[in-house]
Amino acid sequence: MSGHGDAQPMKSRKSGALKGVAEVPGDKSISHRSLIFGAMAVGETRITGLLEGQDVLDTAKAMRAFGATVTRLGEGAWTVNGVGVGGFQEPVDVLDVGNSGTGARLIMGTMATTPITATFTGDASLRKRPMGRVTDPLSLFGTRAYGRQGGRLPMTIVGAANPVPVRYTLPVASAQVKSAILLAGLNAPGETVVIEKEPTRDHSERMLLGFGAKLSVEKTSEGHVITLTGQPELRPQTVAVPRDPSSAAFPVCAALIVEGSDILVPGVSQNLTRNGLYLTLVEMGADIEFQNPREEGGEPVADLRVRFSGNMKGIEVPPERAPSMIDEYPVLSVVASFAKGKTVMRGVKELRVKESDRIDAMARGLEACGVRVEEDEDTLIVHGLGAGGVPGGAVCATHIDHRIAMSFLVCGLASKAPVAVDDGSPIQTSFPIFEGLMKGLGAEIERG
Ligand code: S3P
Repeated sequence: MSGHGDAQPMKSRKSGALKGVAEVPGDKSISHRSLIFGAMAVGETRITGLLEGQDVLDTAKAMRAFGATVTRLGEGAWTVNGVGVGGFQEPVDVLDVGNSGTGARLIMGTMATTPITATFTGDASLRKRPMGRVTDPLSLFGTRAYGRQGGRLPMTIVGAANPVPVRYTLPVASAQVKSAILLAGLNAPGETVVIEKEPTRDHSERMLLGFGAKLSVEKTSEGHVITLTGQPELRPQTVAVPRDPSSAAFPVCAALIVEGSDILVPGVSQNLTRNGLYLTLVEMGADIEFQNPREEGGEPVADLRVRFSGNMKGIEVPPERAPSMIDEYPVLSVVASFAKGKTVMRGVKELRVKESDRIDAMARGLEACGVRVEEDEDTLIVHGLGAGGVPGGAVCATHIDHRIAMSFLVCGLASKAPVAVDDGSPIQTSFPIFEGLMKGLGAEIERG
């Protein structure tokens, strides 16, 4: 079932060699943040390369509800006229942030230390996801939250009138939780400190510095200690959003498993907090050349030349790598199905609280495609069948999860029989041009 509209069944079948250039859209994490930070700066922030996926459009709508002026000038080109730290007005209606955990959690943090009240809801997937991981630390600022059982949406957040700064050690490796606390800390006096034992994506830290906040990151035996000085005046910025490495993963993985493929995926982030999939694929024997390394939009990027790799082997993915590839396990488990031997993914229990329970969704779908899978709460093991060895011929349930839908459509491009998904509509949330881009490379994907 889809989140809002009608379900869109889709199907992919064994394709000829994928060829060409795959220009994937802007990074989802950075797109959300550029709208949110822009709304907290006084003056005009200019954004290019913004991802125009539904998740980001829902964040733009929310920023308007808090009083920012958000304008689309053209494809990916947007401006935000912000209201300043602490300048948010109270939304007059419930905020529907759709499918987006990032939108919900970051925006809750953003308003948590301003004395206004806002009620959040989302689609059936988001309404199942835990928000306590954010509202618990926010309560230390003095913020109150009233949600459904288990800390689920719909939820009303009452911002703290007299916030106090917070020191908090993250109990889970989550950039969303870290970012929510830093955003709340912006409008609290004094120093807010977040400690993360394992590094997670650092876009908020990089962008806060860019917008003029005072922030330091110290590497200690406790982990990364991030200290933010509250109540800065954020300065509007020009943000060039780099391409999304999590979206690039789909054409890259497709090219690795479809015989004869040879594609170029330009501008893929090599940020160490995001590149775990690419390290893992290389260890498996993937033929990926990292060409033309450079900096774009403040991120290290490279152009990836990716060729069919018929001799990939299963590996043990180091658990400490999980935060840097957390969104890529579904498509990695597809590549693992076409590798020889088993791929062991441990330390991945966070996958159970994403847009769907991704361990369960991938395990059931791969089994239906004829792949042997083992799982426990924190582990997924895929027994690879080698190049061309996956039978396919299944209809896989996507559970309102864009990455599950795209992963099984990639699987069908190289399996013996076609693979269908019950609903491809969630792909709109993060990669609205997925179907056209993949077909442009030669992928056989159809609707219905
Ligand atoms: C995101 C962080 C990750 C990731 C999500 C985007 C972000 O979630 O899964 O797609 O933009 O901060 P967690 O930080 O909760 O692991």
